[in-house]
Amino acid sequence: MEPVRAYAHAKVNLHLGVGPARADGYHELATVFQALSLRDEVELAPTGVDALGPMVASLSAAGPFAAGVPEDETNLAWRAVEQVAARFRAEHGARVLPQVDIALHKGIPAAGGMAGGSADAAAALVLADELCARAYEVSGLGREALLEIAAGLGSDVPFILMGETALGLGRGEQLTPLLARGWYTWAIITNAQGLSTPAVFKKLDELRAAGRVAKPSLDTAGVARALLSGEPAQLAQALHNDMQPAAISLLPQLRKVLESGKNAGALAGLVSGSGPTCAFLVEDEDQAREVIAQVTADNRGTRGYVAWGPAPGVERV
Ligand code: C5P
Repeated sequence: MEPVRAYAHAKVNLHLGVGPARADGYHELATVFQALSLRDEVELAPTGVDALGPMVASLSAAGPFAAGVPEDETNLAWRAVEQVAARFRAEHGARVLPQVDIALHKGIPAAGGMAGGSADAAAALVLADELCARAYEVSGLGREALLEIAAGLGSDVPFILMGETALGLGRGEQLTPLLARGWYTWAIITNAQGLSTPAVFKKLDELRAAGRVAKPSLDTAGVARALLSGEPAQLAQALHNDMQPAAISLLPQLRKVLESGKNAGALAGLVSGSGPTCAFLVEDEDQAREVIAQVTADNRGTRGYVAWGPAPGVERV
C-alpha cells in the first residue's frame, strides 16, 4: 500500500472568551476560530505488516518546528490513529489492520497557541479512517464520528478538521461555521519560550480570583459582524483574547512584542489562544514583512511568518 498524506492548518482565535472553570476542569469558551495558511503535513506509510494489535509502528517529526515534539504514543497523532482503529474494530469486528509509520512535517509553531499538535491529530484521523475503510472494504466512519473522536483528543481538534472560520462553544468543540468575507493577512510572531495551555488557564483563574482582570467576554457578535464586512480594519477593532493578561503575566516579554507590532503599523495584535505566539492583523504582505522585521529586531528570541486566513480544514494531498 502507498503512503497517504494530508495537510492540516494552524488556527488563531479572533475572539477568545473564557468563562469560569467547570466541574470537569475545563473552561466554558465562546471563541471564534480562523484557520491560517501555516500547516503541518502528516504521512501514514504502511510498513507492509498487517496485525491485530496496535496500528502505529513508529512516529517521527521533522521540519522547522519539530523540536520538542513527542515521538511516542503520547503524541496526539499516534493516539488519533489508534482510536480510529479501535472504532473500526468495535463497529465491524476485530481484523488485521496495516501497521503504519507516522511522519509529521511541522510547519506550525509548537507549544504556541496555534493548535499544532491538534493539527497533526486531525490529519491523522482522516488518513487512518481512509486506510481502515480500505482494509475493511467499507466506507469511512463518517463526519460525525470523526468529529466525536476529535473532541475526545483535544478541544481544538474538531475545528482543525473543519477549518475556515467558526464559532466554538463548550470546550471549543461545539462548532458553528461563520460566514467570513475576504482574506486576512497576518504577521505571526513566535517565541523561543513555550507556554503550557493548562498553566495559562490556571493563571487566568488566579488573576480573576484576585480581581485583577476583567470579567469573561463571551459575546462574539462584534467579531461576527466584522467578518461580514470583509474589512481588515473592522476586524482589527473586534479582536479580543481573555487569556492575554494571563499569558503576559507568565511571559512579560509578550507586552513588548505586542507594543512593537503596533508601533510597526499593524492594525491590531493579540496573543494567539493561550500563547505565546502573537498574531498581528495587517493590510497586506508588505506590511506583514515590516511588522516582522521590527518585532524580531526589538525582541530577542522571536521569529516571524506571514500567514493568510481563512484556510481550509484537513486536505488530502
Ligand atoms: O482540550 P485540550 O486537551 O487541548 O486542553 C488542554 C488543557 O487546557 C486542559 O487540560 C485544560 O487544562 C485546559 N482547557 C480548559 N478549558 C478549555 C480547553 C482547555 O481549561 N475549554
